[in-house]
Amino acid sequence: MSEMLGKDKKYVWHPFTQMQTADDPLEIIRAEKTTLYTADGNSYLDCNSSWWVNVHGHCHPHIGKAISEQFSRIDHVIFAGATHPKAVELAERIINILPKNKFHKVFFSDNGSTSVEVALKMVFQYWHNQNQPKKRILALDGAYHGDTFGAMAVGQRGYFNEPFEHFFFQVDQLDFPIKTKEEQLLNEAEQLFKTNEFAAIIVEPLIQGSSGMKTYSKKWLDQLISLAKKYNVLVIFDEVMTAWGRTGKLFAMNHCTETPDIVCLSKGLTGGVIPLGLTVTTDKIYKAFLSDEKTKALLHGHSYTGNPLACAAACASLDIFENQETWDSIDLICKLNLKFSMRLKDSIKIKEIRQCGTILAIELNSKEGNNYFSNLRDIAYRYFLENNLLIRPLGNVIFINPPYSITEIELKKTYKIIENFINR
Ligand SMILES: Cc1ncc(COP(=O)(O)O)c(C=O)c1O
Repeated sequence: MSEMLGKDKKYVWHPFTQMQTADDPLEIIRAEKTTLYTADGNSYLDCNSSWWVNVHGHCHPHIGKAISEQFSRIDHVIFAGATHPKAVELAERIINILPKNKFHKVFFSDNGSTSVEVALKMVFQYWHNQNQPKKRILALDGAYHGDTFGAMAVGQRGYFNEPFEHFFFQVDQLDFPIKTKEEQLLNEAEQLFKTNEFAAIIVEPLIQGSSGMKTYSKKWLDQLISLAKKYNVLVIFDEVMTAWGRTGKLFAMNHCTETPDIVCLSKGLTGGVIPLGLTVTTDKIYKAFLSDEKTKALLHGHSYTGNPLACAAACASLDIFENQETWDSIDLICKLNLKFSMRLKDSIKIKEIRQCGTILAIELNSKEGNNYFSNLRDIAYRYFLENNLLIRPLGNVIFINPPYSITEIELKKTYKIIENFINR
């Protein structure tokens, strides 16, 4: 056992990991573009962009330069009672790339979960400040919004959050909108909204990530938002996973006609380099917090709120999204994913293939169903590692959402290995 691994085992507690039975972690000592290099001389193609964050490839020189230049100016500064150029630049640029004239204010936090916590606090306090306390939230079955308490409360209940469930606030869950249930679910939502007790609805727009990259109709989503607006229910889009080109457009909401009241951003925001979360909202919501009473303010913050290095990385990532080359790569991944899914579609081993932009998910037939801890998941994960791919299946769902720097050759190699696994 290497010294690093020995010390890792002695001192480190890894996330989402049963430390007693887990395989040894990969010892990554270098990362470049799409590839991760290990201490034992191996390399792995990072097909899931390192927990779906690393959109431009690893160690992108433009982001590295921006962080380094920022460090020579301001490393970190308190964000209450102070501001700095990169936070202001980032906020302005975010407002300008979201649908025109729809969003006005950016609140900074640390990651995807905190961006959701902030959104939930915003909606509850929005109603509270107007003396109309509304306590119910509507979420979709299968949702994942993060691992902090509010984010867990609006997520799918089950073995992930069972020990904490008795602490959660009331959340109503609408079934996942499969085609045959769309109409019925809109009726159910309308009945709930009519109670006038709902503060907000929260969704992962167009595709649920952690539940197995499950896609649903944009028309249905537009109809649900229209209903929510009709009954004065606020709408939160959790775009932590879906933003930054993942669905083929910059934001998932760019596929829709309607827009939400609040959007949560993180993951690829900094190019997947430094943690940062944003909760972006409208003047309508912001104004409900303006008052002579100090307690009506949004009394929420984190020590690292608006960290200048993270903001500089995010601005640099936005620069890269301004390059046509990035969008050519996104288009190519979308096209090749579609072609590959057409090739596989008749395989008897496959229950369903889902494609949403740069995300390709293959749900395999399995006796264990979509169980996160399934045997099939472990077998697939190890098979891909043996073939120098880092792919972390979600139960029986094998999926890729690669960095946009992936080459056609790398992508075709990935497809081949996935196909070999399926045909084994
Ligand atoms: C849709 C969605 N929301 C929120 C989160 C939580 O983000 P983080 O892991 O940065 O806390 C995730 C993470 O996977 C996510 O997919």
